[in-house]
Amino acid sequence: MAYPYQVTTLDQYNTAYKKSVDDPEAFWGDIASNFLWRKRWDKVLDWNFTEPNIKWFLNGKLNITENCLDRHLGSLGNKPAIIWEPNDPEEHHRVLTYRELHNKVLQFGNVLKNNGVKKGDRVCIYMGMVPELAVAVLACARIGAIHSVVFGGFSAQSIADRLQDAQAEFVITCDGAYRGNKEIPLKGVIDDALIQCKFVKKVIVLTRTRTPVSMIKGRDVWWEDEIKKVETQGNPYCEAEEMDAEDPLFILYTSGSTGKPKGVVHSTAGYMVYTAYSFVNVFQYQPGDIHFCTADIGWITGHSYIVYGPLAAGATTMIYEGIPTFPDAGRFWSIVDKYKVNILYTAPTAIRSLMGFGLGPVQNHDLSSLKVLGTVGEPINEEAWHWYDEHIGKKKCPIVDTWWQTETGGVLISNLAGVTPSKPSFATLPLPGVQPILVDEKGQEVKGNGVSGNLCIKFPWPSILRTTYGDHERCRQNYFATYDSLYFTGDGCLRDENGNYRITGRVDDVLNVSGHRIGTAEVENAINMHAGVVESAIVGFPHEIKGQGIYAYVIYDGSHGDEELARKDIMQTVSRIIGPIAKPDKIQFVSGLPKTRSGKIMRRILRKIAEGEMDNLGDTSTLLDPGVVNEIKGGKI
Ligand code: WTA
Repeated sequence: MAYPYQVTTLDQYNTAYKKSVDDPEAFWGDIASNFLWRKRWDKVLDWNFTEPNIKWFLNGKLNITENCLDRHLGSLGNKPAIIWEPNDPEEHHRVLTYRELHNKVLQFGNVLKNNGVKKGDRVCIYMGMVPELAVAVLACARIGAIHSVVFGGFSAQSIADRLQDAQAEFVITCDGAYRGNKEIPLKGVIDDALIQCKFVKKVIVLTRTRTPVSMIKGRDVWWEDEIKKVETQGNPYCEAEEMDAEDPLFILYTSGSTGKPKGVVHSTAGYMVYTAYSFVNVFQYQPGDIHFCTADIGWITGHSYIVYGPLAAGATTMIYEGIPTFPDAGRFWSIVDKYKVNILYTAPTAIRSLMGFGLGPVQNHDLSSLKVLGTVGEPINEEAWHWYDEHIGKKKCPIVDTWWQTETGGVLISNLAGVTPSKPSFATLPLPGVQPILVDEKGQEVKGNGVSGNLCIKFPWPSILRTTYGDHERCRQNYFATYDSLYFTGDGCLRDENGNYRITGRVDDVLNVSGHRIGTAEVENAINMHAGVVESAIVGFPHEIKGQGIYAYVIYDGSHGDEELARKDIMQTVSRIIGPIAKPDKIQFVSGLPKTRSGKIMRRILRKIAEGEMDNLGDTSTLLDPGVVNEIKGGKI
C-alpha cells in the first residue's frame, strides 16, 4: 500500500480514531515514522494549553523539503509534481517533475543564500500563482528561512504592516500577475509598501507580465539574473538545512476579532506530518491522481493542500494562475477535462457563483475523471452542495466538506472521501487525532447529541499553531484564554443525533466573505481613516454568492462631497488600506450608532437590521439613545 497511514474503510477509521484518543503518542509516532528524519524524536508530545506550550516530536531533526522532494526522486523523479495552468488558456501550460522541481528549489535556495538570507530570517513572498511561487516557498524551507506569503490581492499598506510585524528583510515578488483580464502590478505595490519599510534589504523580482517596474539599485534584483549567477557558480547543490522539529516553518497572517491581522506561526515537523496525513485521508489520494486545489497559495488552503501536503505525499498537484470565470465560466471544467483531474477542491463561493451561469458552461466538458470533490472555507448551503454533487460529481463522487482554519494548519473535521459518510452541509466527523468539544457561554461542556455550542478542541494535534509571531500573549488571549485548557476556534457548531458536526459560522467579530476572513475592527479602522468619517460599525449580512457580505454603518460629517461621492471614496479608502476583498457591499450613513451606556456598540442590533429582521431586535432598553435605532431602521438600504 502506498500510504501505510491511509484508512480506507469505516472500521479502520473507527479503530484509528480510538487509538488516537487512547494513545495519541503511539498513534502519531507511528505515522511520523513514515517520514524522513535526520534524527528521530526523543518524545512525541509535550503540551499544555495554559501558556500555551505545545511541542511535537521533541528534538527530532529534519528538513521538510527532503520529505517533499529528495525522498521521492528515486521512485517519482520523472513524475509530475506540479502541473501549472496559465491564466490565458492559449498560453502553454507547464509541468515540473519531481526532479525538475527539486533542481529549481535547490537553485533558488542558492539564490537566497547569495542574497544574504539565513536560517531563521523572515522572507515575504508576494507573487501571482506561478510555479515559482511554490519554488520560492520551498527554497525558503530548504535553507531554514521562515516564509510569509501575502496574498496578491492585499494592498501596499497591508504588506507594510506584515513586513513590519515579521521584521522581514527580504521580499520575493513578480513584476506583475495576470488574473482574468486584469494585470496586477505586484512590484509597484511592493515599492509603495517599501516606502515605509526601509529595513528591507533585498527584493527578488520574477518576470511574468513584463509590466514596467522600477528597480532600485542595491536593493532590487531580477530572479532570472540571480539564477544565471548560481548556474555559473560551480556547485549547484544546496544542502538542506537541518531543522529542529519545532523550528518555525512559516508565518501566515490572518484576521481576528480585534486589532491588526496576527501572524500565525506553524512549526516544521508537526505541520508536515499532519498535512500529509490529512491530505491522504480526507481526499483518499491514490498514487497517480491529479489533485486540483483552486485556492491561492496566499491562504492556508494553498499552503497545506497545494504545496506541502500533496508534495509530502508524492502527489501531483495543480497550480492555476487565473480565476474561475476567465475566459468564461467553464474554465474549471475545461481544466478538469484537459488534465483529467481526479480530485477537485474549491470553495462554496466559487460553486455558488458558477451555479449562477447555469449548466451551459458545464456541458461539453468531460468530467468523468473526477473521483472526489471537496469544499472549504465557509459553510456550504444545501443547494450548492446538491448542484456540485449532481452536475459536477454526477452523483458518483463523494464530497468532502472540510472544516479547518489557518491556525489548525490542516483539516480537523471532515468526512473521508468514500470512507465515512457525507451529509450535506455537515463537516461530519473529526479526523483521527482530533478531539472536538462543544461548550456553552460559561465554558461548560455541552454533552450528548442533538446539541449546539461553541466549538473547541481539547487535545493538541500536530499542526496546531504554536504562537502568534512576536506576541505569544496575544496567542494565549485569542485562542486559549476564553475557556480553561481548551483551544477555542471562534466558530459556532451543532452536533446532530449521530454525532456529526455542522459548523454554523463565526461567533466572534470575524466575517467570512467569499471564504476570506475579515476582521470587523480592521475594516472599521480603515473606514475611519477617511477624512469625512466620524465613526463606523461593520457587520456581516447573508449574501447569495459571497456567503457573507460587508454592511457598513457610517457617521459621515458631510465635509467631503455628497453621499454618493463619499461612498465611493470610502470604498477606495478601504481598498487602499486593506485590499479590494474588504470593500463594503453596502454603506449606510447614519447620525448615530446604537450604544450601551458604557459606550459599547450593540452589533447584535445592527446585524439584525442588516439582515432585514426589523421586528426582532430584542431588548433595546439598555441603549443610551434608543431613538437612533428607529432612524437606522428607516434608512436601511
Ligand atoms: C470557516 C480556511 C464551515 C470557519 C481553511 C473557520 C468553514 C474559518 C469551513 C477559517 C467549513 C472553514 N464549513 N465553515 N467546511 N471551513 N470555515 O483561517 O468559520 O481562512 O473558522 O481557513 O472559515 O478560515 P481560514
